[in-house]
Amino acid sequence: MKFITFEGIEGSGKSTQIELLKNFFKERSLEVVFTKEPGSSKIGSYIREILLNKNNSILPYTELFLILADRIQHVHEIIEPELKAGNIVVSDRYIESSIAYQGQREGLDKEEIINFIEKLNLPVPDITFLLDLPVEHGLDRAKKRASLDRFESEDISFHKKIRSAYLEMYDQNPSRIIKIDASLKSEEVFEIIKKNIKID
Ligand code: TYD
Repeated sequence: MKFITFEGIEGSGKSTQIELLKNFFKERSLEVVFTKEPGSSKIGSYIREILLNKNNSILPYTELFLILADRIQHVHEIIEPELKAGNIVVSDRYIESSIAYQGQREGLDKEEIINFIEKLNLPVPDITFLLDLPVEHGLDRAKKRASLDRFESEDISFHKKIRSAYLEMYDQNPSRIIKIDASLKSEEVFEIIKKNIKID
């Protein structure tokens, strides 16, 4: 198992779990690269600023293509070289985020987004942890943190659609996507993650 991704709505606790996973791998002295989207490459960091800035009004296709541009750089500069070198890669968000988030934008449908993504020939994760919890619960957590970004500031119905889109993807791909009840205690969530990580 070399390529691991984390997905979930705002406030689903991905960062906490990723921190726990960092320690888990460190204790085992394994070479692991932790990365995230958007914004991990140099160009990606500029793209991230554009995407997250609340003052920007971004058209649906602009948003989608910026996200995909970030991913192309990310895969080319970080994910592929690390996987080729035999290292484990853990990414905070990846393909399912684009289907869940950009799929809610007006005039963009899921199938179209999937078609664009397929053209990019991106590496497919070995396992994807979907941290699932009620939207109200997640947004409460997100609001307790720093000021809300452009995505977090969207209304609750947007976030509810994102959660449903994630659950639909899980239903369609239960062998790769592991859905975890993220309203459990963080230690309990991590136990489930640990059980599903198989290092070869
Ligand atoms: P970030 O601050 O990294 O937070 P988190 O992952 O903890 O929510 O925000 C990244 C935002 O970008 C997040 O709100 C989801 C959004 N996003 C998309 O809309 N599509 C994508 O494909 C990706 C990777 C992220």
